[in-house]
Order: sequence, then C-alpha cells, then structure tokens
Amino acid sequence: MILPMSDKSIESVLTENRVFPPSAEFAAQAHPNAQELSRLHSLASLGTEAFWAAQAREHLSWHKPFTQVLDSTNAPNYRWFADGQLNVSVNCLDVHLAAAGDRTAIIFEAEHGEVRRYSYAQLHAEICRFANGLRALGAKKGDRIIIYMPMLAEAIIAMQACARIGAIHSVVFGGFSAPSVRDRIDDAKARFVITADGGWRAGKVVELKTAADKALCEGGASVEHVIVLKHTGEDIPFKEGRDLWWHDVVAGQSTTCQPEWVGAEHPLFLLYTSGSTGKPKGVQHSSGGYLLGAKLTSKWVFDLKRDDVFWCTADIGWVTGHSYVTYGPLANGNTVVIYEGAPTFPDAGRFWKMIQDHKVTVFYTAPTAIRALMKLGDAIPESYDLSSLRLLGSVGEPINPEAWMWYHRVIGGERCPIVDTWWQTETGVIMISPVPGVTSTKPGSCTKPLPGVEADIVDEEGEPVKGLDAGGYLVIKKPWPSMLRTIWNDNARYIETYWAKFGNRYYVAGDSAHRDKDGYYWIMGRIDDVLNVAGHRLGTMEIESALVAHPRIAEAAVVGRPHDVKGESVFAFVVCKGERPTGDTKAFREELRNWVGEQLGAIAKPDDVRFADNLPKTRSGKIMRRLLRTIARGEEITQDISTLENPHIVEQLRGRE
Ligand code: PRX
Repeated sequence: MILPMSDKSIESVLTENRVFPPSAEFAAQAHPNAQELSRLHSLASLGTEAFWAAQAREHLSWHKPFTQVLDSTNAPNYRWFADGQLNVSVNCLDVHLAAAGDRTAIIFEAEHGEVRRYSYAQLHAEICRFANGLRALGAKKGDRIIIYMPMLAEAIIAMQACARIGAIHSVVFGGFSAPSVRDRIDDAKARFVITADGGWRAGKVVELKTAADKALCEGGASVEHVIVLKHTGEDIPFKEGRDLWWHDVVAGQSTTCQPEWVGAEHPLFLLYTSGSTGKPKGVQHSSGGYLLGAKLTSKWVFDLKRDDVFWCTADIGWVTGHSYVTYGPLANGNTVVIYEGAPTFPDAGRFWKMIQDHKVTVFYTAPTAIRALMKLGDAIPESYDLSSLRLLGSVGEPINPEAWMWYHRVIGGERCPIVDTWWQTETGVIMISPVPGVTSTKPGSCTKPLPGVEADIVDEEGEPVKGLDAGGYLVIKKPWPSMLRTIWNDNARYIETYWAKFGNRYYVAGDSAHRDKDGYYWIMGRIDDVLNVAGHRLGTMEIESALVAHPRIAEAAVVGRPHDVKGESVFAFVVCKGERPTGDTKAFREELRNWVGEQLGAIAKPDDVRFADNLPKTRSGKIMRRLLRTIARGEEITQDISTLENPHIVEQLRGRE
C-alpha cells in the first residue's frame, strides 16, 4: 500500500542498494558496540517495562527512587516512574560538578564572532542565579514560562532554571511572529515571558522584544513580568513594573539554588507544534521519562564521549534543540556548541569554519541546510579543516540520497558514519536511527528502531504489513518513557490525533513508511495536511487561516510542492473577495506573502500564490487537495475531475487563463 501523501517514489527506495558499514576503526571505539547493542535489544525483547526501569535506575539520579514503572490505568495517557522524584537540572548540572566542574559545557559563538565558554561549574552558577531570580519574582512549580529568545547560552540557562524550580517552560521559536507568541502565551496561561532586546540574524536585528510587546497588547493577560536580556543593545520600549532586565533579576542572587524535587510525571515543558487541524497544539513532556530518553539516545546515537565536541545546529525553539542541545548532551556531561546566527553569515563557510575552529567531532543538522550548502559547491567546505569530525547526523525531514552522499563524501571525508534520525516533537527523542558503530547505513533510510522502541508499519486495518514493498502507517506499539503525555488543555485532541485511528492500540505517528528486505525503515512523508518546509513543521490550515484573515481574501487552500533545497515549499491557491486579480499581480502576491509572514513567521510565507475564482470542490463541498497538489507540482492530472462541482476551474488553477 502506498499512502496518498507519499512524496518519495517507492522505486527509489527499493532500488537503493548502496550500503555503508561503519569503519573498523569507528566500530572499535563505539559505545554501544555490536555486543552492547545486542545486549540492549535482548533485554528490551524480554519486556520493555523492565528494560526501561533498569535504564532509569542506572542512568538518572533520583531524589526518591520510583517503585512503579509503567502506569497504564488511563491508557493512552501513560505514566512512567510516577512515584519517583528528581530534578532535571540537577541531572544535567549538579551530578557533574564534583568530577567535571571544569569541563566545558557550552561553547557559544555569536554571529559577529565573539566566543564565550561556560564550564559546568559556571553554567550551574548562572542557572542557579537565574532560578533564584525567578523565585524572587514569585515563580513557582507548575507556572508556565514562555521563552522567546535568540540561540544564546542564556536561552539554555533560562530553560534549565525553569526546570530547577519546577516551572514549565514553553520555548517559542524566535522566528515566529507576535500572533504566534500571543496564541502560545494564551493557551499556556503563562505568568512570565523571557526574551531579549533582540537577536542577530544575517547581520540584522530580529526584534524579539517588540514582537513580545505586540503579543502582549493583543492578549497575554496572564503575563505578570517580561524578563529582557540585554543582547543587541538596541533601544526598546520598556513597560515599568511589567518589564525587568535579566541583569537586574540576577543581581545579588546566590550561585546555588535548592532544586524543586518533582514527581517524574511533572511536566518539564510544553512545545507547540503544528497539526492538520486548528491552532498549534501544546505537546506536553514529562520530567523523568523525557530526560531518560534524551540522555540515552544522545549516548546511543551520537556515541558521545568525554572529549567530544557536539554541535547540533537546531534552534532551542524546536524539539531537536531541547533534546540534543539543552537536555541530552548536558545530562551526559558533554560539550555542546551553540551558534546564534545564520549559516551563511558572513559567508557560506560559516558552519565549516566553526567546525574547524571548535574542533567539532559530532555534527547534527537538517537536510535542508545540507542541500543549501551543497548547492554552493565543494570548494567552500574543502577550504576548511574538517578532520576533527567523526560522526554526522541528519534530522527533521527525509534526506535525499544525493544530499546524503555529498554529506558523506565532502563533509564526512568518507570516514564519518551518518545517523539519519527519525523522530518527532511528540516522541520526545530519537526513535529510529542507526547506532553508528554497529548499523550499516543506506542513503535515505533511518534504518532500524532503537532498543525499547517497538515500531511497526501497519495497513488501514492496523495489521502489520508484510512483504517486500511493505508500506503503510508508521506506528509505535508500546508506550515509551519520553513519549508526549497529552496536549495541553486538550486531552481529547491527544487521543483523537495519535491513538483513535487504531482503537487506542498504537501511537500513530502521522508518517507513512516502507520497510525493505533488510527490515530498514524508509520514511515516505506525512499522511496528514502537515507540511515540512526546510525541516519546519507547518499546518496547511494555519497558513490558510492566516490568508483568510487578510481583508481581501475569501478562501484559501495551501498545499506543499517539492522544493530542491527546502524539501517542500508552501503553495497557496487563493480566492479573493470580488474580482479575481489579473494582469500584474506581483505586488499583491508579495503583500500576501508578507501578511502570512507577519501572522505566523517568515518560514510560513508561500513561495507561490495563485488566484482563482474558486477552489476545486466536490459536490459535497470538499476541497480536492490531491488535485491541488498535482497542480502545484505541475504534474499531469490523473484524478477524475468530472466529479468536481466546477471542473472548468482546473485550467485557471493551473495558471492557464
Ligand atoms: O515527517 C517526519 C519528519 O518530521 C516530522 C516531525 O517533525 P517535528 O515534530 O517538527 O520534529 C522534527 C525533529 C525531530 C516527522 O513526522 N521527520 C523527522 N525526522 C525525519 C523525518 N522524516 C524523514 N526522515 C527523518 N529522519
């Protein structure tokens, strides 16, 4: 079975026969090695509950040990280690202080080049100071705190400080605009917003405080204080009483802070992500189970060791920045690199120069970045010394074999394994991925599930698919500790979105997948109306709502179109109130693009806007999205359009009249 949204052709999957085993040298030093991995898999095969319990006892530091492992009483609202108590920031910082307080935790590079390093001891002190400052303002366990910041060490400090006092953070990507910030503040009923006067991106200031102010004008009644980090030094409006400078909040605060011990199920964070309907949903993650997954997968997938310098390029506004910048690597006591700015500033060698300068050993980025940098030619990366690299990772969208091969050859010097990691905001951590010292890789496949992850591919009836071209819905059959717990404020939506399809038996990821003869997974794309633009998840409905909020727009339908760098781009079909614009519509199309940018953020701007008198609808009034996708791709129409209420519209939608 091939599901409707599959973007990759099944042929390309089944004919890919290049296989790359890890080098003997890599395999010899890797943990887990083949023996350790097979031990983990066999332990998990004896029972996932006992497996995860053993991992949680071994790898986390508990204030009060748990006695219950998995609580399925309210399935599919599963609970893990529920009677145990711990603190996430203690697990990421305090546990390293005695033996490794001097080890570098963060290497921060600003866009203009300044480099700042934080040892574990320094980071711990800064987190404690800020946590004390938050407490002094009245912040307490369970409060929601919005973090809307550039990619700075202070963003990590803010997240960890929330964890230290048991507050629930919700990071909003700095590229999102004021209405998106407002929606998240209002849904979470946040008491505090932490932001900066601005951030640097491609030499320009991103005006975060101004956007936060706008969000708070239009909503945000729950917010008591806005804490502002002075970063760019821009003049910004300041609201007396409500707004406070970060440096004033931490002034005079102690560098130690008594952690709030929380139950393992206490929410660590909410992260809003797009679905196929409605507004973004607040994916809720736990403290204990989430941290366990983040810590273990950082070790298993990135083979992280004491001397590694790990650079995951994701912004903390995305789940990748949570699990593989803020939590996983720090829980393992590793060194992470973070970078504030654009990958092509001041030139396209920035990533490669940073790898050279900081001697990065493990590098993790998105296919969209790889494709963009690949387009600029081999000479740029070849002019830097990338010999420190030993392992490469990819995340967020399917990686096409051409980009994979370039990454392998030009960046990895044909010696670095590539881990293509499949997971989601909801899964919390990596689920399907090579284990680099063991798994032979194939370009474009995320290979096999990690230990304890019971993934499968099922058909419309929920039965496992069999055979060579086995394709269907990607599902996870057993609960896992780092899984989302619910959708904030909307448990019904949690059940409906992820569980209802197969009678609450399996977690339904929303992706279609195929499995090849070796049992390798190939992710084919989303089966819902979620787009993946440059590795960023966007709901078509969110963009449609933004468009129809424009005074001249009556109706809109948004679909994805394959894009050679971004993977997918936004294509909007738009019906105006009154006459359809004809002639030179460039200025109006630009106005609509910018409108969407203001409503949602620049990443959601449509690349294409096409006007029509109407949208293609069935007689029951349903928009035929598949037809729109075909049209957006410029492909031949194979669908039966005779069932359309208005078949004549097709030529117009194709831009031919
Ligand atoms: O469609 C899959 C795609 O990204 C979706 C999850 O997006 P998000 O929650 O924003 O998390 C992205 C970072 C983990 C998935 O449903 N996706 C993620 N990783 C891969 C992928 N598609 C193919 N291959 C991957 N490695």
